[in-house]
Amino acid sequence: MKAAVLREFGKDMPIEDVTLDDPKDREVLIRITAAGVCHSDLSVARGKGSMPLPCILGHEAAGVIEKTGPGVSRVKKGDAVVLSWTPYCGNCFYCRAGLPAQCEAYNRAAGQGALFDGTGRLKSASGERIYHFTCQSSFAEYAVMPETGVLPIHKEIPATVAALVGCAVTTGYGAVVNDAQARPGEYLAIWGLGGVGISALMAARLCNAEVIVVVDPNPRKEEVARRFGATHYINPKTTEDVPAKIRELTQGRGVDAAFDCIGRQAAFEQGYNSIRPGGKLVIVGQAPRGDVFTIPAARAFPAVQKRILGSYYGGGIPEQDFLRILDLYRIGKLELDAMVGKTVPLPGVNDAFRELESGIDTRTVLVFN
Ligand code: APR
Ligand code: ZN
Ligand code: ZN
Repeated sequence: MKAAVLREFGKDMPIEDVTLDDPKDREVLIRITAAGVCHSDLSVARGKGSMPLPCILGHEAAGVIEKTGPGVSRVKKGDAVVLSWTPYCGNCFYCRAGLPAQCEAYNRAAGQGALFDGTGRLKSASGERIYHFTCQSSFAEYAVMPETGVLPIHKEIPATVAALVGCAVTTGYGAVVNDAQARPGEYLAIWGLGGVGISALMAARLCNAEVIVVVDPNPRKEEVARRFGATHYINPKTTEDVPAKIRELTQGRGVDAAFDCIGRQAAFEQGYNSIRPGGKLVIVGQAPRGDVFTIPAARAFPAVQKRILGSYYGGGIPEQDFLRILDLYRIGKLELDAMVGKTVPLPGVNDAFRELESGIDTRTVLVFN
């Protein structure tokens, strides 16, 4: 099969002929139909994560089941599926605690660039091992992953939309619905209007928030913010004191919840200082390794009763959210079609990364025939 192989951080990924072994116990082979280009892929490609190389990125995808390994029961050949980037074992402490994204088997495997049995299925034309990314590696025509990494969906759902549900949509929607538990009439603010931020914005609207402020330094995002239902836009480059501006818009109080959808220290600090006493700072974005953010300690922290929450893959049970989100899409409550930007074939992935770096309006999705 053809796949984009990350061989060197910061360099383009060549499209190579790659061998993919058959699925083993409780694994499935998926023909990828669409794969979104997410900032987390970009961060790894630019060396901001820790991944063994060479590897195949891609963690936001949809596909069709091509083959099932021994013991697979949740899907059959021909099923259309959304891929998850946290397949889980179902047996560890975290799986039993209802935190499947923390699954011990998954985290061990993903850390090694392998599948659950510690081995890989990917090899280059010369027979060298290629590492898996999030047990998924969907910047490729096919993928093999544990069966808990796929969820069957209605065939009529466009692959591009299904792909985005596999990461950005669930991440942003869940931050608002599961982690912040936003209620009608609340005041919310979102930092970073990429795929994740737009999804958080759509969820904020769905929850009938009264004030929804978007903070993004790219002036082009103002129009995007309004289009997806923001009530206010703030450019942090041209606004001296962002929290003060937000207080001005919220009866002097601050927002009920602030969402970092970019992973920058400045956004964390502005978010923390923009929430009202008792409000929530929900951190969704993944900051580069080594970054820290500081908040006033002493009396201030306990006295204001603020809560800081780490939000990962929507904070709930991702596959349950996939189904809920797709139902909301079907009945017209979430306009996911509007999130799909350019669609390009696999070799377009390198340009898609560059465009993501310079700031684009909606998600670029790789499509496969
Ligand atoms: N404050 C607010 N917004 C910012 C800032 C900042 N200091 N710096 C950049 N941005 C904006 C960009 O202008 C862009 O609109 O954040 C947005 C990021 O969008 P994408 O690059 O599309 O990122 P996305 O794929 O949505 O991912 C966001 O979530 O999954 C994680 O690792 C991912 O940390 C990343 C975050
Ligand atoms: Zn992602
Ligand atoms: Zn587990």
